[in-house]
Amino acid sequence: MDYKLPVGAFEQQPRTPFYYYDLKLLDDTLSSIREHSAYPGYKVHYAVKANANPIILKRIADAGFGADVVSGGELSAAINAGFTNDTIVYAGVGKADWEIELALNKNIACLNVESMAELEVIEEICHRMGKSVCVALRVNPNVDAHTHHYITTGLSENKFGIDIEKLDEIIARCQNSDCIKLKGLHFHIGSQITETTPFENLCKRINEIQDKYNEKGIYFETINVGGGLGINYDDPEAEPIPDFKSYFETFNKHLNLREGQELHFELGRSVVCQCGSLITKVLYVKNGVVKNFVIVDAGFSDLIRPALYQAHHKIENLTGHGGSEKYDVVGPICESSDCFGEQETLPVTHRGDLIAIRSAGAYGEIMASQYNCRQLPDVLAK
Ligand code: LLP
Repeated sequence: MDYKLPVGAFEQQPRTPFYYYDLKLLDDTLSSIREHSAYPGYKVHYAVKANANPIILKRIADAGFGADVVSGGELSAAINAGFTNDTIVYAGVGKADWEIELALNKNIACLNVESMAELEVIEEICHRMGKSVCVALRVNPNVDAHTHHYITTGLSENKFGIDIEKLDEIIARCQNSDCIKLKGLHFHIGSQITETTPFENLCKRINEIQDKYNEKGIYFETINVGGGLGINYDDPEAEPIPDFKSYFETFNKHLNLREGQELHFELGRSVVCQCGSLITKVLYVKNGVVKNFVIVDAGFSDLIRPALYQAHHKIENLTGHGGSEKYDVVGPICESSDCFGEQETLPVTHRGDLIAIRSAGAYGEIMASQYNCRQLPDVLAK
């Protein structure tokens, strides 16, 4: 299946830069997830942090997925988009009191708790509000995701989750509570994971943990394995839809689910990344002393991933003249890190050409800022 960028529609857009979302590709991605996750007890919650554009969120809610949120703002965005309360789970290492109150008021499905200190505050707030709540304990499994160190989360040195040594104590506290119902365990090892081994290792770790607790007569209704499935940034055409088949098969093969147990996933990037591109216009072509620069009207305020994580997104000149030339593709922001690609081979490029920065549907628009008092990027979804 071909998902061509509609260049004609781009030329009519009043303002660049803008995010273009291919809704057909999003729908096909959602169908693929539905098809390949159809094992008993499997449930996918979309990680709203990847992209909270209301059009995208509504589409995912309408397709019947749940939502994984990490702030009061995301919780409200999910509810506004039509996710029902009982399909929303809330994770996050630093929930403020008002956010816990909002979650309790909205009766969401589950709070993922990351420390004893947090559990105590949740209990206190429950008592004050006369409420009870289901929780899952986020465990730090100490499994290496082999990804960029900024987006590795499941190692003992990371700030996330409860150390396995402290789990007994927190479980006991839940069992003795009159307002906390312990539902399950939550894990997340990192993001943009492109090998199966880290997921297999996570499964093995979860099996050990479950065996240990089952022996003590403690059972969990849900196991949540987080998100993390990576996508192909180098060649988005080759893989517009990530390999969900192998992903879910890995869990089906390696994770020993208990009778009636639910397995939850929190996929973000893999759901929305390939359906989005950042479309920008060439302002100037500047021939430097050692390099040629293409200066575009998008900057790291619009897409921060290259500057922040040294990420590379495929860059295409959509206006497409002949020839070929090497350029550094840079933005207008006054920092040298405002660079989308070094020594990119593009057709000979001119002022006014449209450039697409691909695979920008996840952690793109949502991480945009107004640095340099720039306007936020526009959106075209069709
Ligand atoms: N669940 C939890 C607890 C998470 O922390 C995350 C992502 C997800 C699920 C979703 O992971 P995904 O399926 O999208 O990999 N801004 C970075 C990515 C940060 C990911 C943070 N946590 C980037 O642009 O690469």
